[in-house]
Amino acid sequence: MAVRKTSRPVKKSGPGTNGSQSARGAQPAGTAGHVKDMNLAREGKARIEWADRHMPVLRTIRARFAKERPLKGLRIGACLHVTTETANLARTLQAGGAEVYLCGSNPLSTQDDVAASLVADFGIPTFAIKGEDHKTYYSHIVSCIEAKPNITMDDGCDLVTVLHTKMKPFLKDVFAGTEETSTGVTRLRAMAADKTLRYPVIAINDADTKHLFDNRYGTGQSTMDGVLRATNMLVAGSTVVIAGYGWCGRGLAARAKGMGATVLVTEVNPLRALEAAMDGYQVVAMADAAPRGDLFITVTGNKSVLRREHFEAMKDGAIVANSGHFNVEIDIPALERMSDGKKVARPFVEEYRLKGGKRLFLLGEGRLINLASAEGHPAMVMDMSFANQALSVEHLVKHAKKMDNSVYVVPEAIDKEVARLKLKSMGTTIDVLTPAQVKYMATWSEGT
Ligand SMILES: NC(=O)c1ccc[n+]([C@@H]2O[C@H](COP(=O)([O-])OP(=O)(O)OC[C@H]3O[C@@H](n4cnc5c(N)ncnc54)[C@H](O)[C@@H]3O)[C@@H](O)[C@H]2O)c1
Repeated sequence: MAVRKTSRPVKKSGPGTNGSQSARGAQPAGTAGHVKDMNLAREGKARIEWADRHMPVLRTIRARFAKERPLKGLRIGACLHVTTETANLARTLQAGGAEVYLCGSNPLSTQDDVAASLVADFGIPTFAIKGEDHKTYYSHIVSCIEAKPNITMDDGCDLVTVLHTKMKPFLKDVFAGTEETSTGVTRLRAMAADKTLRYPVIAINDADTKHLFDNRYGTGQSTMDGVLRATNMLVAGSTVVIAGYGWCGRGLAARAKGMGATVLVTEVNPLRALEAAMDGYQVVAMADAAPRGDLFITVTGNKSVLRREHFEAMKDGAIVANSGHFNVEIDIPALERMSDGKKVARPFVEEYRLKGGKRLFLLGEGRLINLASAEGHPAMVMDMSFANQALSVEHLVKHAKKMDNSVYVVPEAIDKEVARLKLKSMGTTIDVLTPAQVKYMATWSEGT
């Protein structure tokens, strides 16, 4: 792929929190993007290759894409967490013939070494710096849109929102998109409902081979990983409160329970609450959970799930974290107003001193903790999510013209193919229906 200079050259960035620094290393001539330090590229490349070893489905797709070039001439603007796994997705799209432009989908989730390697080793213009401030975050999205993508690949719908509001002229180049996460899909469905959405989007999150695995096992494991890396707390014997028993909450509750915690679940959906109760958790209202919890984790996709009345009731030393997409699940402004002061207790741990002396600890600025203080989901699970992304882009190239401006599920054939390839890579064989079984399953006349 020819790497072109974008209108936004490498420049100094303002310092963010939690160890963000300005762009230091010189970017080689002919490359484009805005990353923290090009000197990190070597480390990033090694980690990208390590992740690739655990992404056999994506590797299979990449090999086919390299031969068939189904994405030839396509420009893709991707707003994703800039991790090792995302790098391998970008390489796969590139192998298919696409030009990929990448920006971060969260100010704290970028892996700076990966961003550097994407630019230096793979020629993928990348605009992302861990700890970037709000203005820089959005300027990076703008840079991606300025590359005039034909397909958008979003995680949380921020790029699509900027495109449909402040950068409408660029809509003329776009014919389709994909969306990675639950919160993004919710926003897109709202856009489709009020007829604002201007092109078809495939909801990757809704594939079974995505949310059943990525949201459940990926978020479950990596959120506990993030909490532990940030705090080094002992989970066994503690009381962990999980807000939201969706796909992410289910996985997280299972991991916390497996580590020896007493798990309390809060919900607003009676079906999900019932499921949590029958899975063996104590289902309580947050008002009742607040004085009991040692660790609170929100994964609802909703706002102000933890708020003033809950902070007031919490124990001294309680830890609060979020793994939902946006940093709105914990009402941080309320926490700020209730506090005399705050200090950094450890990287990714802020100690808030409440009036009256109680201390509460907020992890990762309330941003998704698995990506803020850890590495996000393991590559083995992102293998399936990103296989869905790659195959859905190929599908859109062939079929978008016949699709409406609405949100589509991933075609069942793609979902099944991803599951089949994953099982194959795991060396797992499954049974096939006998002809008699096929016939039996299609009949209503045979009973006892
Ligand atoms: N951290 C990550 O890497 C990661 C990965 C996948 C998804 N996500 C994000 O996590 C969030 C949850 O995703 P999901 O797939 O589990 O969604 P989901 O829709 O399956 O589950 C969300 C659950 O939260 C419940 N809920 C909503 N408001 C609530 C409230 N006020 N109190 C208690 N429960 C409430 C809902 O009833 C629902 O059961 C989304 O924002 C999603 O984008 C994060």
